[in-house]
Amino acid sequence: MAKAKYYLTTPIYYPSDNLHIGHTYTTVAADTIKKFKTLQGYDVFFTTGSDEHGQKIQTKAKENGLEPKEYVDGIVANIKKLWKMLEIDYDCFIRSTDEHHEKAIQKIFTKLYEKGEIYKSVYKGYYCTPCESFWTEAQLLDGDKCPDCGRPTHLEEEEAYFFKLSEYTDRLLKLYEDHPDFIQPQARKNEMINNFLKEGLEDLCVSRTTFDWGIKVPFDPKHVVYVWVDALSCYLTALGYGTDDEQNFNDYWPADVHLVGKEIVRFHSIIWPALLMALDIPLPKKVFGHGWILFDDDKMSKSKGNVIYPEPIIELYGIDAFRYFLLREFTFGQDGSFTREKFLHRLNSDLANDLGNLLSRTVSMVEKYNDGIIPAPKTEEEVDNSLRELAVSVADKVEAEMDKFNFSIVLEEIWKLVRRTNKYVDETMPWILAKEENKDRLDSVLYNLSESLRIISVLIKPFMGETSGKIRNQLGIKAEANWEDTKVWNSKDSNIAGNKVEKGEIIFPRLDIEKELIQLEEANQKLIQSRTKDKEVDKVEENKEVEVKEVEVIEKETEVTIDDFAKIELKVAKVVNCENHPKADKLLVLTLQIGEETRTVVSGIKQFYSPEDLIGKNVVAITNLKPVKLRGIESKGMILAAEDDQGKLSLLTTLEEVKNGAVIS
Ligand code: MSP
Repeated sequence: MAKAKYYLTTPIYYPSDNLHIGHTYTTVAADTIKKFKTLQGYDVFFTTGSDEHGQKIQTKAKENGLEPKEYVDGIVANIKKLWKMLEIDYDCFIRSTDEHHEKAIQKIFTKLYEKGEIYKSVYKGYYCTPCESFWTEAQLLDGDKCPDCGRPTHLEEEEAYFFKLSEYTDRLLKLYEDHPDFIQPQARKNEMINNFLKEGLEDLCVSRTTFDWGIKVPFDPKHVVYVWVDALSCYLTALGYGTDDEQNFNDYWPADVHLVGKEIVRFHSIIWPALLMALDIPLPKKVFGHGWILFDDDKMSKSKGNVIYPEPIIELYGIDAFRYFLLREFTFGQDGSFTREKFLHRLNSDLANDLGNLLSRTVSMVEKYNDGIIPAPKTEEEVDNSLRELAVSVADKVEAEMDKFNFSIVLEEIWKLVRRTNKYVDETMPWILAKEENKDRLDSVLYNLSESLRIISVLIKPFMGETSGKIRNQLGIKAEANWEDTKVWNSKDSNIAGNKVEKGEIIFPRLDIEKELIQLEEANQKLIQSRTKDKEVDKVEENKEVEVKEVEVIEKETEVTIDDFAKIELKVAKVVNCENHPKADKLLVLTLQIGEETRTVVSGIKQFYSPEDLIGKNVVAITNLKPVKLRGIESKGMILAAEDDQGKLSLLTTLEEVKNGAVIS
């Protein structure tokens, strides 16, 4: 029987800058849905990509001394590297500069024009360059601000083509009425109706003449197609729509879901369906508007210096910990606040303590009490039934919640089983059974533990593929994970009795949170600095051909030039005060006198020095490091130390006494 088809998309991202944890969120969610649906037996097509046209990109490229295509090529290479790093299993990465896409857009635009859906007129409106959006005066905030991003807009007047969006108000309202789940979560639908549709829509300007980095209108080439028409249509062209090969389009369209951030629900639930109606193309089934990941309750932005990049997190803790955290910590439809503390706590509690511990205890006991062979069950007690009933019931809950994209609830349901199974160990006390030589009962307990872990390994697979594989390896399971086998205890297809377990590495080691906090913060700062540094080098070397491949910088430390070294400001600093950090066991808070200036530096050296050892001493400090907050105290700089092979730190100083503030070179 042919498999049922499922088509899902992420937004296509602006390659105006490297992607951060917020963008990663949508892509990880989409990838998890793809893996889940595939495991359930669907034939899934997953599209992501990059939205490369528009004034913003053109300006950004110019700032970097590059042609727009050259500039976006560098960022797109990084995006693809990031998706590879995260094992994102997309089927098409569509770039809006792909030739087949550009041709299809020209066909779409011409078709709309020929059908009388688009007409030429003069546009007067308030334009927000960062959002690539026009607004009417009534929509502006505080007189001139963009209602989406709050930045100033400017009045523009130009010849333009318009799409007759105003004629679609009633049809859109009817669409929402006939398909109450078209926009999810429900609150976003109400927003669309109350903020946009109630007052009636205005026609939409769909071409620009003030810049040329875009797809030319074929019958009037001084115009380029407005970026949103270009971008939204990527969902079709990724399937070959408008090319000689429309097989995928015929197979997979209409989309089952477009996953988007809350600020672009408007484009996806108003402009997009209206355009599709005008083109006589079936409408997507659902638009899901998820919340934003904030940093400490604040919007992430480069200018605020609070952008969190995923690469250092993945490099330090692996893909699965990162994916688990994103989907477990935040409720998908709502905003959530990222902090490194939350991430590390989750790792310790859910992954190291709960899951990691369960696996290592189970495998160790099978090794110790049954020569590494998972025994067949022999007895049955009430406590076994309660474990079994819970285990085989989780899959149904997962299915129901996955349908609503409630990832955090799904993971919570799975973890109820993980914790229940850990409790089962405490309830049955296999070590006592071994002591009492109650072999039948011991066999049954070991089997039940392993069987529960087998089910867990399938349940977590869409979220944490690598961990699922590790658990299965340690349980000696060779078969592919099969979704239906999660609903059956003692499943025939995945019978594990008789398997030889293979004790592997600890899957999630417990972390020293304070140490990791420093490491994580430093790794992120290092990446930000290397990315900024790369851009500066690019500017200086405008005439040379420099390929911008920022991610490589974190993969391999490159040689530095004397000029690179000169960028780091090192000075002799006198410790005038030093105290224990009130909220951290491993940190000291130092007050440094550096010439005329006094500043605070937080340092992870408490294991090696007490405050009295340091007061009055001279140390070496980096003084132009971007400030970071460590457990609530801002650290302005870093003091240098040497680390021996036991990990002991020894602070650097000068051979002779030198006046503080002296420059080190
Ligand atoms: N290019 C358009 C989308 C066109 S789709 C036809 C665009 N690009 S974007 O790069 O600015 O944003 C892409 C997605 O990333 C949006 O869904 C946006 O909500 C999401 N995010 C950007 N920052 C985010 C967070 N901090 N948190 C969660 N998602 C965020 O818009």
